[in-house]
Formats: sequence, C-alpha cells, structure tokens
Amino acid sequence: MQALIEAIRSQGHGVGSQIVKVDSFLNHRLDTGLLYEMGKAFALRYADEHPDLVLTVEASGIALALATAHALGDIPVVFAKKSAAANQSGDMAEEKIFSFTRGQECVIRVDLRYIPAGSKVLIVDDFLANGEALRGLIAILKRAGAHLIGVGIAIEKGFQPGGQALRAQGIPLLSLAVIEEIRDGHIRFRDTDQH
Ligand code: G4P
Repeated sequence: MQALIEAIRSQGHGVGSQIVKVDSFLNHRLDTGLLYEMGKAFALRYADEHPDLVLTVEASGIALALATAHALGDIPVVFAKKSAAANQSGDMAEEKIFSFTRGQECVIRVDLRYIPAGSKVLIVDDFLANGEALRGLIAILKRAGAHLIGVGIAIEKGFQPGGQALRAQGIPLLSLAVIEEIRDGHIRFRDTDQH
C-alpha cells in the first residue's frame, strides 16, 4: 500500500538490522487518516468472506482493528489482553507467546464469550515478525471453535519467518507493506503487488 510505504519511508527509521520504528503514525501517535485507509484495504480484501468480528491483540493492533471493523460495516472488535484483571470472569482462553522483539514471554487472553463458536474471524495486527502473536490468536480461535477467514497486517518483516509460516499453512494473508531488509538505516521493501 503506497501511502503506508511512503509514511514508513518519510517518518520511520531502522534500528539495527531488525527493528523499524514507526511511533509517529502507528505505535505511539496515530495517523487516523492512514489508519482508516489501511482498514479500508483490509475490508476490501476480506469483505466477501463476511467476517463476524475482527480480532487483534492490545495495544497497537486496536486502532487498526477498529478502522477495519468500521470499514466492514461496524462489526465488533475483540482484542486479546496481556494483563490479567483481578476481577476477571467468564471462560478465558489463554496462550503463552514469546516476544523475540521484547525478549520476554507473555500471556494473551480472550474471554470466549466474545468469540462465539462458528463465527468467522478476521485477525488484524500492526506488525508481523516471528508470528508468535498470531500463533497465539489462532490457537485461541481454535479453542473457541471459530473460523479464521484471513489475516491483515500493516507491516510484515519479510526477513523474519512469521509471514512465510502463515502462507505455508494456506492462511490468507494481506500485508500492506513488506520490509525485506533494514541496513544502515535504509529500509528496503518487497514489491507487495506480487502478493
Ligand atoms: P511476533 O508476534 O510476530 O512474533 O513479533 P514479536 O513478538 O517479535 O513482536 C513483539 C512486539 O513488537 C509486538 O508488539 C510487535 O507488534 C512489535 N514489533 C515487532 N517487530 C517490530 C518492529 O520492527 N518495529 C516495531 N515498532 N514493533 C515491532 P506488542 O508487544 O504487541 O506491543 P504493542 O502492540 O503494545 O505496541
């Protein structure tokens, strides 16, 4: 998606060879117009599958999921939580995921009342790196008895294995920008029109 690639080029910067910082429009300050454009792109790709809800993980995925759900006709968003509430209730599905970026394990949890069995679910997230967050969300969907119709990602890091693993499983994946390489602060993109 050209507008996202332009935003990464003009506002993002590479940190080492692994990380791209996009705090000014996606991870800290939010570019609402760009988020709505991204949501429309996911909606265009997946509307024919008639998803019942959009699933993401807090925190940065929420805005993107909201934009997508709005473009799909204001369907609900469910986000996995990363912290356990003292007054947690309901039938919680929990999955441990390991974040290589943060170097730590965390637990994501969703109240299964909000993912009805048989529902059609679109997963949306801001980054796809090793695919741990998605692995956890997909496991939660299985436990709920829901159907994954596809995945929408804003920025896939193509040099990490998450995207390849999803494609190998035959899971529909739309990544709006795929970064092939970060070197000396320069970010090189894959031609996403091929995907
Ligand atoms: P994975 O789910 O694909 O395995 O990714 P990983 O564990 O490595 O990512 C952990 C967190 O770091 C995720 O955010 C992910 O969105 C983010 N992340 C991964 N690579 C990058 C990157 O190159 N740049 C930036 N800015 N973020 C990256 P999170 O822990 O869920 O945090 P948040 O949603 O609260 O921001």
